[in-house]
Amino acid sequence: MLSLLNIRHIMSPLDLSTDELDRMMQLAMDMEKRPDVYAHACDGLKLATLFYEPSTRTRLSFESAMLNMGGSVLGFSSADSSSAAKGESVADTIRVVSLFADIAAIRHPKEGAPMVAASVSGIPVINGGDGGHQHPTQTLGDLLTIRSLKGRLENLTVGICGDLKFGRTVHSLISALIRYPNIRFILISPEELRVPSYVKDNVLEANNIPYQEVIRLEEALPELDILYMTRVQRERFFNEDDYVRMKDFYILDADKMLLAPRDMFVLHPLPRVNEISVEVDRDPRAAYFRQVHCGMFMRMALMFTLLERKVQEC
Ligand code: CP
Repeated sequence: MLSLLNIRHIMSPLDLSTDELDRMMQLAMDMEKRPDVYAHACDGLKLATLFYEPSTRTRLSFESAMLNMGGSVLGFSSADSSSAAKGESVADTIRVVSLFADIAAIRHPKEGAPMVAASVSGIPVINGGDGGHQHPTQTLGDLLTIRSLKGRLENLTVGICGDLKFGRTVHSLISALIRYPNIRFILISPEELRVPSYVKDNVLEANNIPYQEVIRLEEALPELDILYMTRVQRERFFNEDDYVRMKDFYILDADKMLLAPRDMFVLHPLPRVNEISVEVDRDPRAAYFRQVHCGMFMRMALMFTLLERKVQEC
């Protein structure tokens, strides 16, 4: 997304072309291999993390990414500790933060809030997750993880399991993957947590992407190259009873892993609750902690790219 001020913002993975994603993945891998080369790339630059909703991975990996490149970080980790608690709007907040920082990552419970911020911001804004809508930087890490494990992003059968309705990582991942040839999805969820119709109609159907919707994980497992597990998003439910009924619908354990191909990998954006038994962590196909690592390097590569004119020559 390019704002009126001609500043580039990242609201969804579609704000990056596949060529740009490819370059960013190469850059992230180089950053992992040769950290010293990038250790001062962002000297003197500041990242603001404006998190109106809880986070461990996204906020800390953004901050770690900036620190790894010699920059500094400032921000808040909850709405309560910012002037949002006094009623300040997201738009006013980013106008102010634009005076203090060079780039901002925003997480907000309301869909579209980072877009509102981007429309008035004087600095690049990155969506760090908006409600049940999009989580583009999680997808960047997911793509690098898949490519590093499978050696490709095309010709894959991807199973996505759990809360496909509220899971913003799911919506972003589907949007990003459909741009690669011969991708097929098996969408595994209870009826109530199926992928929203805007994703089904505007993304999958509109692009003739093959997909099946199934309820039983066991049915899908033997066919998969990638299994992307997700948590039931308690914070998005209106009714606690519905959450309790759904929360343990899927539990991936060692017995179920016996049904999966030997070269299938398990991803999860984390945090996990009960949906992957800890015994699966010992399975060499469990890739969710590597995925966190990939996410941090992709956030380095993304900020490096968005701050291109400001970063020093490496
Ligand atoms: N995957 C992810 O967004 O994790 P956090 O909520 O901890 O940032």
